[in-house]
Amino acid sequence: VIFESSQEASILVAQEIANIIQRKEELNEPCVLGLATGSSPIKVYEELVRLHKEEGLSFANVVTFNLDEYYPMDRNNIQSYHHFMHEHLFNHVNIIPGNINIPDGSISNEDLQQYCIDYEMKIKAYGGLDFQLLGIGRTGHIGFNEPGSHVNSGTRSITLDHVTRTDAASSFLGIDNVPRKAITMGIGTVKNAKRIVLLGWGISKAEIIKKTIEGAVSSQVPATYLQQHSNTTFVLDTEASTEL
Ligand code: GLP
Repeated sequence: VIFESSQEASILVAQEIANIIQRKEELNEPCVLGLATGSSPIKVYEELVRLHKEEGLSFANVVTFNLDEYYPMDRNNIQSYHHFMHEHLFNHVNIIPGNINIPDGSISNEDLQQYCIDYEMKIKAYGGLDFQLLGIGRTGHIGFNEPGSHVNSGTRSITLDHVTRTDAASSFLGIDNVPRKAITMGIGTVKNAKRIVLLGWGISKAEIIKKTIEGAVSSQVPATYLQQHSNTTFVLDTEASTEL
């Protein structure tokens, strides 16, 4: 779906999320959201905060699982995704702190593998994700599933692509400061979500958006796996859709 502005699109995406939260609340069930970081979802979070503050949207039944986190990364570091999520969403809504799940970038190397297995099991224990919000990296990654990621991959540690580290360099004051690894939910984790919305804004995403939507499904462009998911919408602005 192509919108003239990311602002207009983000408001509609936030409204869809709010509707799912309220439907689940009526059923007295937890609403399990998979959340993303990066610049793309910021306006969606702004609108969710507005819906909470001005229209009484409650997050009391919401459980969240974030896609990814740099590794190693201290949660108090301003570059952490932990910090990002609290700044843009969690500090401003009534979510129960114990319902927030973000991969822990400070876990020790020896505990990392088991930690990832447990993260995956916890999502499954909730019956999977009701909704997964995604951005896309220029390598075609979703979460931090870089080229080469397997279609059935689960939560795990991965090595970041050079392009991804270059794109992150400005927020880390230089590429040398960008962590070389990350923890990410897998392609399999994401594909199990009942509903997926991928956001793509701006001309810098036009080329990867074309490959993702029109290209052959391939581990070299992990986002192409979304073509195989029956309930995914790519929400784009006009600039990101110019190559389609
Ligand atoms: C990072 C995140 C991704 C995100 C991507 C794009 O790599 N791990 O989840 O989609 O950045 O970021 P932006 O939305 O800032 O373009």
